[in-house]
Amino acid sequence: MTANTATSYYLQTMPGVEEIAWLEVRRKFPDARFGAYSFAKDQNGLLLFEMSGDPGGLLDLRTAEDVFFLAINEERMTRGRQDLQTINELVSRGEDFGRAANSFLRHLKPSGPPTYRVISRKYGQHQYRRIDLETAVLRAIQQRYPRWSEVEDGGQIEIWANMLGSQLIVGLRLSDRSMRHRYQKRVELPASLRPSVAAAMVLLTEPEEGDVFLDPMCGSGTILLERINAGPYHQVLGGDVEDTRVTAARQNLPQQRKGRKADKIIVRQWDSRQLPLDDGSVHKVATNLPFGRQLSAGQNLEALYQGTLHELARVVHPGGKIVLLSSEYDLVKQCVRREEKLNILTGYSVAVLGHWGRIYLIERLS
Ligand SMILES: C[S@@+](CC[C@H](N)C(=O)[O-])C[C@H]1O[C@@H](n2cnc3c(N)ncnc32)[C@H](O)[C@@H]1O
Repeated sequence: MTANTATSYYLQTMPGVEEIAWLEVRRKFPDARFGAYSFAKDQNGLLLFEMSGDPGGLLDLRTAEDVFFLAINEERMTRGRQDLQTINELVSRGEDFGRAANSFLRHLKPSGPPTYRVISRKYGQHQYRRIDLETAVLRAIQQRYPRWSEVEDGGQIEIWANMLGSQLIVGLRLSDRSMRHRYQKRVELPASLRPSVAAAMVLLTEPEEGDVFLDPMCGSGTILLERINAGPYHQVLGGDVEDTRVTAARQNLPQQRKGRKADKIIVRQWDSRQLPLDDGSVHKVATNLPFGRQLSAGQNLEALYQGTLHELARVVHPGGKIVLLSSEYDLVKQCVRREEKLNILTGYSVAVLGHWGRIYLIERLS
């Protein structure tokens, strides 16, 4: 991953979103070259790639939780104590580490020797502890950059050491927390989706300028917000059966704050099985179906899923796209199969709020 003038990076995503993140990278940076996917247990997916040019644009990626300069990617660690010596050599003398640190410093432009902090994670069985890994990296940095000063919090450079089974990935973090917490929603409700997962769902709808976009079960409006951020649209429609959620979504969406044209973004209280929308009037749908403990007492999941899918088959225009997220994967498949106008194109397994769920991409047949 070190060809000509390209720089190596990796993105950290919610688990399973890394494949969708690659679609976003490829779309926004056509010269980017794929490297590999990896994962940090149930915590994160990783996407390794390289590209040339200014890294600043990477901070606008919506499906990523964090962006890093890739400093080390070594897939053949032994898991034995000799790894600690290997890590020392890779960090204190390795060319890849030096190149990544130089790229980072060119981007950061510190006025003097920078402050830094080491963050470590370790998954799997090894003959050393996580703290031994962290100490090995720390000592190697002290050897290589004696003028840099270590700090406990903050720091201009965050060096992340990930020991993922027998793969070592070390990165220098380009993003800060504002990428993950990209907007302060006024009202945050339980079961609201991570913005990066909502962004991944929106991306799969292939946003276009003429879109009438719908989230029929919008909760506090995370998916609607991501659609608004994804580019021009004709109309964004959302609704929820619960009035508290309708109020929350209205408060979270920009139209109420900035007084945009009132009919561009509409949020209403409704039942997703009986939408007040004309046949074929919607082009794209993305929604996060309630599952398990999110259901209120007495609600029948199968009836809710089937009724909603039947209604979506009616309101979505032929050729339109529906993206659904649920951890009731079999139920979604079963309900889609019963709708002759709907067809599952593909699915991505993702972890949301500690549960594995599946994002389905469904087409409305002509
Ligand atoms: C998993 S939450 C969606 C969360 C949303 N994506 C967010 O980020 O805030 C599912 C939503 O479906 C709503 N819901 C349940 N049954 C519904 C129905 N029949 N019609 C419309 N909304 C419904 C719930 O009130 C809940 O807000």
